[in-house]
Amino acid sequence: MVLWKRGPGSRRVSLLFWSAVIVFLFYHYRSALYPAPNPFSPGSSGYDWSKMRRQYPIAEFEMVRPPRGPPVPLERIQFNFPRPAYTLDVKQHAQREAVKTAFKRCWDAYMEHAFPHDELMPVSLDGKDTFGGWSATMVDALDTLYIMGFTEEFAAALPAVGALDWSDTTLTSVNVFETTIRYLGGLLSAYDLSGEKVILMKAVELGEMLYTAFDTPNHFPPFWFDFSDAKAGRQKAGKSDPSASPCSLSLEFTRLSQLTGEPKYYDAIDRIKRFLESSQNSTRLPGMWPTFIDFQNELADKSSDFTLGAQADSLYEYLPKMSALLGGRDPIYEQMYRSAMTTAEKHMIFRPMLPNGDNVLFIGDVHVRPDGDGVSLQPDGQHLTCFAGGMFGLGGKLFGIREQLATAEKLARGCALAYAAFPTGIMPEIFGLLPCASRDVCEWDEDRWVTEGDTNLPKGFKHARDPRYLLRPEAIESIFLMYRITGKPEYQDIAWRMFLAIQAATSGGDTANSAIKDVTVGPKEITKLDQMESFWLAETLKYFYLIFSPPDVISLDEWVLNTEAHPLKRPDR
Ligand SMILES: *[C@@H]1O[C@H](CO)[C@@H](O)[C@H](O)[C@H]1NC(C)=O
Repeated sequence: MVLWKRGPGSRRVSLLFWSAVIVFLFYHYRSALYPAPNPFSPGSSGYDWSKMRRQYPIAEFEMVRPPRGPPVPLERIQFNFPRPAYTLDVKQHAQREAVKTAFKRCWDAYMEHAFPHDELMPVSLDGKDTFGGWSATMVDALDTLYIMGFTEEFAAALPAVGALDWSDTTLTSVNVFETTIRYLGGLLSAYDLSGEKVILMKAVELGEMLYTAFDTPNHFPPFWFDFSDAKAGRQKAGKSDPSASPCSLSLEFTRLSQLTGEPKYYDAIDRIKRFLESSQNSTRLPGMWPTFIDFQNELADKSSDFTLGAQADSLYEYLPKMSALLGGRDPIYEQMYRSAMTTAEKHMIFRPMLPNGDNVLFIGDVHVRPDGDGVSLQPDGQHLTCFAGGMFGLGGKLFGIREQLATAEKLARGCALAYAAFPTGIMPEIFGLLPCASRDVCEWDEDRWVTEGDTNLPKGFKHARDPRYLLRPEAIESIFLMYRITGKPEYQDIAWRMFLAIQAATSGGDTANSAIKDVTVGPKEITKLDQMESFWLAETLKYFYLIFSPPDVISLDEWVLNTEAHPLKRPDR
């Protein structure tokens, strides 16, 4: 009542009232102007990286923000499946259940024998720490649990996720790339799917730690994140680091900015994009970037070796995927993708000589001779390059590049053919082929095969330099993508044959799967390796599950998958 009575205090009261109104309006209006400030403060982690004093701070007004405005139309990726494809028939249902059973057996074995360590040792039934000791397999598999409908297991894992402490590690450093794609990617995806706030909170805490890796003189991250170097402000980017390492953090950092409204993560990876753009045409193989790059001095013209395989692969994979995640709002990613793939088509892709004359393609490595513009192809296939069929398919669809779809199918079929050629039904980690001079005609030449090949291997193969199978996903990844892109049911048949072969060779159907020593031997001579990397649950089995699922389960027009197969939500079209 006193408030409303005119008296000596009324002017002060009305001043207070109007200030309150102004303050209220200011904050109200402010939140309408800017995205909501990040509501999560780091929780239980022992060290709060966001409070660390930066050696090389960047002011917020200098930061590049994710592009705004309506999405630029991109082409539809998925085939226009007819209605019946959305209902599983008896066969597909049984196939999908078989994949789920394999997953569940491995998840249970991990939880029983290895958790909270990073990985299961499937032969000795023990755990080991390979990625910081933050239960890598659990975090990596969270979204697969959710997608496969293991709701109880997912809910049971949440308290363990909430209790993760990124400062609690026995290691002195962690790998920036692996930590980003497995842990950060896994958390962001599990949050995008489930909306569980505790998962985003953990992603933000980890994002703060990983963002600290960019606290270097030129704001390029080192390959290893060394905890004491970071705290002392002593970090520097490497002088010869794998190109994929800093250049495929973009999807995860962009999604983190999108979800929190915090621009610094996007700013960090946009700086790397600008370097890629400016260096692309002045490398020794213009259009592509060398396998190893001097990020400290921002030089990409010092090295002569180029690959789409190990050390570089996901740099290229992320170009079209960034376009998708940004809703097409940044044309540079498409431009870089187009010129990189033109170069790869010209110099890296080859047709091998095969006994049935199969018209398939493989990808080799390239060495540029120092004496001029001589470019030589090393025609070795790697399991890791098998992702490329899917990439050509995705980029070809997204940007409407028709020729790339034919290349994509031939690449994906090449990997499937290499699986089927070996007695285990699985392709080796690294192998050699005999390239033909032309992609159009490629006649089988028995004499050439006897002279240049290895007659102990399937016809057409020259060597199996690394004959292991490590439970890798890249071949089924491309088969899955080509199924969703073309709608051809034969890709499901290929997938089923691959799944049966992998099950038979790596588990026998009653134990957790393990890597194997040699895929070139008969089924009775298989030697298990004591290893089950987290990507088996995060990627390989997820792709097998998705290819037997209705096409709207993780539609490629709604989700974009990071290089560890973690689906991130694309902006609404
Ligand atoms: C690099 O070359 C390609 C093709 O020749 C061209 O489209 C692109 O704009 C060039 N990039 C830069 C940064 O000049």
